[in-house]
Amino acid sequence: MAALVALINGPAPAAPIAEEVSFTHDIRPVIENYCATCHAGVEPEGGFALDSYKAVRAQVETGALLERINDPKDPMPPAGLLPIQHRRLFKKWADGGYVNTGTRKPARRAAPTAAFKPPAIVPVDVSKEGFRFLAKMQGHWVGALWLMGQNYGWFAFDYRAIAPSHVHGIFEGGTMGNLFTSFFVTRFNGTRTIMARNGGILNGIYRTSYLVLDRVENVASEERYRFVDAYGGKRIMSIDVAFFGSSVRMESHTSRMGIREPTLHMRFEGRRRPSELATEAAKAVGFPKNVVDRDFAKGLPRPDWGPKHTVTSASYMWQEKGKTLVELARLAKDPYRIDQMPHVAKLHVKVKRDAATRGKKLLILLSERALVDKRGMFKTENGYLQADLANTILLFPEISGKQDEFTLTYLHPGTYYLTVVADVDGDSFPTPGDVTHPVRKVVVKPRSSESVVINDLTVGN
Ligand code: HEC
Repeated sequence: MAALVALINGPAPAAPIAEEVSFTHDIRPVIENYCATCHAGVEPEGGFALDSYKAVRAQVETGALLERINDPKDPMPPAGLLPIQHRRLFKKWADGGYVNTGTRKPARRAAPTAAFKPPAIVPVDVSKEGFRFLAKMQGHWVGALWLMGQNYGWFAFDYRAIAPSHVHGIFEGGTMGNLFTSFFVTRFNGTRTIMARNGGILNGIYRTSYLVLDRVENVASEERYRFVDAYGGKRIMSIDVAFFGSSVRMESHTSRMGIREPTLHMRFEGRRRPSELATEAAKAVGFPKNVVDRDFAKGLPRPDWGPKHTVTSASYMWQEKGKTLVELARLAKDPYRIDQMPHVAKLHVKVKRDAATRGKKLLILLSERALVDKRGMFKTENGYLQADLANTILLFPEISGKQDEFTLTYLHPGTYYLTVVADVDGDSFPTPGDVTHPVRKVVVKPRSSESVVINDLTVGN
């Protein structure tokens, strides 16, 4: 069933372990909950998917799976060891001869969320306080990110106004998917407040979640803002943003839609880089004005999670191959779709490969300043791309060696330098040895959908 969403598939059974462990009843739910975000899709992590009986069995038979799920120093999932009863299932499944569906009747397990009662959410009234959050959030933030157990030493978010009371930023990951957060003024539960729309596409799963501002506080020298799930409250998910000096810290906590206690999902800490872009964008759209951007006074529509799942969150999800972003949004009943968002544009980048770049990962870099010269050589210091230029990179999707085109969505209009880098050494950064092309400037107009072709990706650095 296409609508079935791996993220919310029922929880794995608790101890004691049933006599017969089968793939369908026991193994698959664990895989879908804990592994499928990475080991699935077009370009799965580790180079293999865990998306079928055969595939999972193969990984258990080589010993790799049992080794890694029980290795506290290098665990799978990378975020930390699974509960012991989940880990035991795999060994028992192997010992029992890899039963597929088995004879056990599907147990009617009560999901812990079956009796879910949403809490009353009291939003912060931004006609009194908190509105300045939007102006503070704008800017090009450069720092480091921790996302689901992975560390990214260099990372950037480009938050700009797209309407008088709406700021938006996105991480375009390329083949792996994307992750965005936008903040806008709304009316919710009778109050004018700020709402966060957070989500993206990860390994083919479309998800957007809506959160509301329910706390503003000053602690020490930090200005802190908390957004909680607009249906399930902080028990389901939250985003905390703290500003201090010229820095920001953004953290999100998620509970896998309520099946466990919330844990840290991502953490970004960055400094605001001097950039004209946010100022220009604000001027172009008349930001900031304390007006309603999108009105949810009548409440958010009820998400459709299918008959088997109790809705615990204002999250809209869909998974289906071959659908466009807008089609997925409609199927998920997302109340604020990309085609309804003001100002943002799309840019399609197509790259011609030759023998030197075939099969190599491509970095598609959009920066505020040029990274290469007229001949296509990196502007370097000590042999490496100048750090102050690297820090002007705004978006940096990476596409696999098998792909040669990519569409940037939710793109801020403006003037960019586009640099496509064939990442010959596979280090995900423009470095000596990589192949690139002469400098290329692109102008992206509001709400446009343009294409560029790079057919001179031939300059060895
Ligand atoms: C956050 C992403 C992520 C999640 C979630 C994740 N993995 Fe992985 N996995 C990776 C990456 C990246 C690699 C390759 C690098 C490495 O081996 O550490 C990998 C490698 C592996 C390997 C090693 C294969 C080999 O040949 O050595 C196994 C086995 C594995 N994962 C199993 C699992 C299982 C089982 C789960 C769920 C219980 C899981 N992974 C969850 C990212 C993930």
